[in-house]
Amino acid sequence: MKTLTFADLIAQQTGFAGEGRLTDFVSRYDGELYFGDRLNLNRLARQHGAPLEVVYTPQITAQVQRMIGWAEQARAATEYPAAFHYAYATKANFAAEAVQTALAAGAHYETSATADLIIAHGLWRQGILPADRLICCNGSKEPAYRDAIRNLRLDGCETVIPVLDDLDELRDLITTPAPIQFGVRERAAGNRDGRHPGNDRFGLTTAEIEQAAELIADSHHTLVLYHAMIGSQIEDEAHFLTTLRASIENYCRLRQRVPTLRYFNFGGGMPTSGYQLTFTFDYQRFLSRLMATIRDLCADYGVPAPELIGEFGRYTVATHSAYLVEVGSVKAGHAGQPDWYLVNGSMMVMLPDTLFVSGQEFVILPLTDWDKPVRPVRLAGRRTCDSDDIYPRPEQAPLWLPATEGGLVLAIFGIGAYQQMISGRGGAHHCLTPEAARFIVEERDGRLSSRITPQQDQATIMRLLGYRPQPTALPLTLPFRQPVRPAVLPARRRMRERALSV
Ligand SMILES: Cc1ncc(COP(=O)(O)O)c(C=O)c1O
Repeated sequence: MKTLTFADLIAQQTGFAGEGRLTDFVSRYDGELYFGDRLNLNRLARQHGAPLEVVYTPQITAQVQRMIGWAEQARAATEYPAAFHYAYATKANFAAEAVQTALAAGAHYETSATADLIIAHGLWRQGILPADRLICCNGSKEPAYRDAIRNLRLDGCETVIPVLDDLDELRDLITTPAPIQFGVRERAAGNRDGRHPGNDRFGLTTAEIEQAAELIADSHHTLVLYHAMIGSQIEDEAHFLTTLRASIENYCRLRQRVPTLRYFNFGGGMPTSGYQLTFTFDYQRFLSRLMATIRDLCADYGVPAPELIGEFGRYTVATHSAYLVEVGSVKAGHAGQPDWYLVNGSMMVMLPDTLFVSGQEFVILPLTDWDKPVRPVRLAGRRTCDSDDIYPRPEQAPLWLPATEGGLVLAIFGIGAYQQMISGRGGAHHCLTPEAARFIVEERDGRLSSRITPQQDQATIMRLLGYRPQPTALPLTLPFRQPVRPAVLPARRRMRERALSV
């Protein structure tokens, strides 16, 4: 019987023939992996070694523009009479290159905290966040967050929309002399399906929404937005639609009494393709069905169809970055158990959702050795000594990866949303795992440009922890791997890479 190779396995799982586009974010040509069909990851590993974080921002542009395109088609197909607005939920990744790329692609802005809004204010002043973009402010608002909203509004920004999470926020913000456009967040949506108990804390009850509407009606402000978010990474289209339906009806009832209401905001939840090679979700069909549902319900209630806002977090950024890590050593598993591939990083630092989100998956592909037989393995982070520093988790099936004695470089995809924000950027991490070097690619006028920031060094980690620099006690940098192979490029690959000015 023929031994199963990694290429066979992928072909079995996905039908991929070995060359061409594997997903909407990764391709393979001449046996090498490409990010966004353009950036050669094998070459980056040869040039810069691993671990390496690769940030490919044109993927963000593609995500935003694709969704806006699907929404346009859905609007045309359903004759939906109002606009669709794409907002980037910046909490998924606050990095300047991520936020600015999303804005340049046309996104509106959704904030979750004081510091987030202060960044938005700065971008708005610089014109990077254009004046016509909405700034939806979600989350529970401490006094500093409310001050940041007030400051932005008093600075002249008319498009900042505080989405009320409790009535105290309104009692405070209502004193702002400039008229504010308010939103209300529906509390019932958060855990309507019983799947998201943590979401139950957000938003207002029906009675509180009534009160907010009355208070606003008696002021110089207006109520313009109704927010109903039902969860995150919702891959079941029918469930997404049925769960939102009750919120749409609530919108309609409120709209009958509040003529200034004009936006229905369904929040986050749009799934990303970044976690599974076999992911499928028909975004355009979902938007068409959503628009048709809203159109019909609004007609039933005799109110105009609202402008639609989606706040896209993981959909926008999950697929725009990847980690390259190297299997440094292989340790035998116990009898009958998969072996351990020990990688030069930390799973729990790089992928904290492996701990927080039950069953969370990531797409992991070897850069080479697709023709080698596969074996079941688990990855373990060699830079911590923590028994939780493993992926897949014990309750998940092992990975099937090419056999190696070490030296195999793996690309871990789907890490661009939440992972780095939860783990923190620039801090001292678990077991002092240094942050990998970061290779950032951006696109301007069709040309790619790149920059690299080095791996976090020992002196930085020590300073953060309050140690005095001890230049002689420890090397300032951890050993950085040399290129694994000379970068001799076949002609076709050279052509592809010429597009990239590194
Ligand atoms: C109010 C709000 N909008 C949008 C999002 C983004 O969600 P997702 O990453 O599922 O798109 C979140 C995430 O927590 C949120 O709280």
